[in-house]
Amino acid sequence: MKARDSQSRPERAPIIRARQVSRRFGARGAECTAVSGVSFQVQPGEVVLLFGPSGSGKSTLLGLLGGLDRAYTGQLELFGQDLGRLSDRALSALRGERIGFVFQSFHLLEHLSVKDNVLAPSLFAGAPLPDIDRRADEVLERVGLLARAADSPSQLSGGQRQRVAIARALLRRPKLMLCDEPTGNLDRQTGESIIDLFGELHAELGTTFVIVTHEERLRRLGGRALHLEDGQLVREEPGILDDQTQAEATQGDASQGEAASSHSQSTERDDERGDHEPRRDAAQAEAAQGEATRGDAHGGQAPRVARAEDVE
Ligand SMILES: Nc1ncnc2c1ncn2[C@@H]1O[C@H](COP(=O)(O)OP(=O)(O)OP(=O)(O)O)[C@@H](O)[C@H]1O
Ligand SMILES: [Mg+2]
Repeated sequence: MKARDSQSRPERAPIIRARQVSRRFGARGAECTAVSGVSFQVQPGEVVLLFGPSGSGKSTLLGLLGGLDRAYTGQLELFGQDLGRLSDRALSALRGERIGFVFQSFHLLEHLSVKDNVLAPSLFAGAPLPDIDRRADEVLERVGLLARAADSPSQLSGGQRQRVAIARALLRRPKLMLCDEPTGNLDRQTGESIIDLFGELHAELGTTFVIVTHEERLRRLGGRALHLEDGQLVREEPGILDDQTQAEATQGDASQGEAASSHSQSTERDDERGDHEPRRDAAQAEAAQGEATRGDAHGGQAPRVARAEDVE
C-alpha cells in the first residue's frame, strides 16, 4: 500500500490528539498566550506541516507535542496516553523511544564524533539498545554519512550536519518525527535534499512527521498544512491527495460545514470510523525499517514525493 494512501486515509488511533491546548508565558497581568485553544489530531503515517508567521506559536506547540514542555492547559494525548497523567520518567521513556526531534540549528556536540553524536542521546533516554552500535552505522549509512562517522561535525557542511541530526533522531526508529524548521538554515539545494530524505523515510517506514516550516515547497511531501496565527489554529489545507480521497475529503468538508474548523478532517473521520486495522502488519513494517536503515531500500521504490512544480 502506498504511504500516501495511508496518510490520506487515516486508519488507526491518532498519534497526537490535542483538545483546546493553550500555553501561556509570563506573570499574571503580563501574560503572553503563545498557543491558544488549539485542537487537532495527527494520524499514524501522516505528514502535517505547521505554518504561521514568526511568533505565532509554532515552536511552542511543537515543544508541547513532543512532551518537552508540559505547562499547558487543555488535553494532549500522545500515542493514546494523556501527557498530563504521565510521570516524568514515563514521559521521558515515551519521548526517547517513539519521538525523534530535528531542529533548525542541528544541536550537534562539536567535541564528539559524528557517530557519537548519533549515539549520545540514546545512551541516556529509553531502554538500552543491545545492537546500538550497528544501528548507528545503519542510520548513518541511510543518510549517506557512514564514511564520515569518525569526523567531527565541524568538518561537515550544513546539509551534512542536518543529516547527522536526522540520523540521531532515527536511531530508535521513532514513530513520530517532530521537526522545527529543518531546512531553515540550509541553502535551497541542500534543503531540497533534506526534503527528499523526509519523503523517502515517510514512504519507506511510514514515519509520521509534524514539521514546522515557512517553506511552501515542503508541501510536496503530500501532507496537510495547519496554519497558526497568534497561537490559534486558523486554517487547514488538505494534503495532495489521490482523487478518491480528495472526493472523500470534499464530502467530509461539506458535511462538516466548515473546512477550516480547528478540528482536522482526520478528527472527524476518526470519530466516525473508530480504530481500524493497521495499514500493514508489524512484520512488514519491521522489514521495511531494517531495509531502510541498511540503506538499500530504494530498489524499485521511488520516493513518493510530489515534484516541486506540483505545488509551486
Ligand atoms: N520561554 C518563553 N518565555 C516567554 N515567552 C515565550 C517563550 N517562548 C516563546 N514565547 C513567546 O511565545 C510566542 C510564540 O513563540 P514561538 O517561538 O512559539 O513562535 P514561532 O511561531 O516558533 O516563531 P518563529 O517562526 O520566529 O520561530 C512569542 O510571542 C514568544 O515571544
Ligand atoms: Mg519557532
